[in-house]
Amino acid sequence: MAQRKRYLFVCVNRRPEGTPKGSCAERGATEVHAALKMEINRRGLARTEVRACTASCVDVCWAGPAIAVEPDGYFYGRVTEADVPEIVDALVSGGRVERLVLPPEDFEMATAGPALSLPLVPRPAEPGREGGV
Ligand code: FES
Repeated sequence: MAQRKRYLFVCVNRRPEGTPKGSCAERGATEVHAALKMEINRRGLARTEVRACTASCVDVCWAGPAIAVEPDGYFYGRVTEADVPEIVDALVSGGRVERLVLPPEDFEMATAGPALSLPLVPRPAEPGREGGV
């Protein structure tokens, strides 16, 4: 398999419910990752251009779902499934989706912009409990 030109590291970390800074999985990162994989495959980019990988916490939890774009060295934040086609369009054109690129103040919880509201997706059922919340 060829080395891709870009790697998207999608944080899919999940913290316990109620953690103040939240977590990307709680805000839909698993679904964002799946949608990215599907769109990248659908456009024939998966084998040579870009790979969407899951990652653990990239330390901008309050601005998640977060994606580290490498080797370009920027982060997307507050990404939803609806943003995926635009993100892939930008990859194809060699650009980026500026409205999703995290500015320096988003790298500190105290100065970050507002988080996406919680929860965006239902929590998976825990063993021994009925359904998710
Ligand atoms: S939980 Fe995703 S950046 Fe920390």
